[in-house]
Amino acid sequence: MNQIIEQLQNETRDHSAQELLVSVHRHFGDKIAFASSLGAEDQVLTDMLCKHIAQPRIFTLDTGRLAQATYNVIAETNKRYGITIKMLFPDRAAVEAMVNTHGPNLFYDDVASRKMCCKIRKVAPLRRALLPLEAWVTGLRKEQAVTRQSLRRIAWDADNGLVKVNALADWTVEQVWSYIKANDVPYNKLHDQGYPSIGCVPCTRAIKEGEDIRAGRWWWELPEHKECGLHLK
Ligand code: ADX
Ligand code: SF4
Repeated sequence: MNQIIEQLQNETRDHSAQELLVSVHRHFGDKIAFASSLGAEDQVLTDMLCKHIAQPRIFTLDTGRLAQATYNVIAETNKRYGITIKMLFPDRAAVEAMVNTHGPNLFYDDVASRKMCCKIRKVAPLRRALLPLEAWVTGLRKEQAVTRQSLRRIAWDADNGLVKVNALADWTVEQVWSYIKANDVPYNKLHDQGYPSIGCVPCTRAIKEGEDIRAGRWWWELPEHKECGLHLK
């Protein structure tokens, strides 16, 4: 497997993000899909994919706790590009058992409860989506968090057993927004209201000027805990 990663890394070393997306789609065919949270980075990737790949596969994990603004950008994006972003839902019985045992707001109790919620609402549906694939694309960037500093554009995702393509790993937040403006890409309106990073409503708040871009995610936890389990080491 290391051989494929090395080969892809060498082949795409000088590629732009867009060229990299084209190359990995050529390599993996219908065995690659993009996981979009509809955040700014994800919208850049959706724009690139819709312009350069025939029928790109894009899915989002609907935890059941997303913001209306997020549903709005899903609808707007579908309409704009003539696509259907596939919405994946958590297992009904697992969600029912969890909230009826631990309460609807269990994420505020402790890190373990929060991680249980993320596991049931996000990680398990992600695993299901990745099962038939050989590679997946994400909008992760190095700059986003202490937990993401060693990110590579193409990596082996050992937890899920497939290749992970972080096409914007080296992009700055300025590059993301200048692409969005230059290409008139639809984006989540919460970004205009102090939300640089958007997840579920109960676990996301606006940040104040000068605060870290992920300060509004799980704000009651320490920075090193702030991963939902979609992106383990
Ligand atoms: S998280 O781990 O803190 O939730 P973040 O919001 O920074 O992740 O998003 C990083 C990348 O993870 C996104 O660019 C996207 O590829 C993927 N991702 C996060 N949330 C979702 C979601 N709900 N559905 C699909 N992909 C997601
Ligand atoms: Fe649950 Fe919050 Fe994780 Fe969403 S971000 S799945 S509400 S703990």
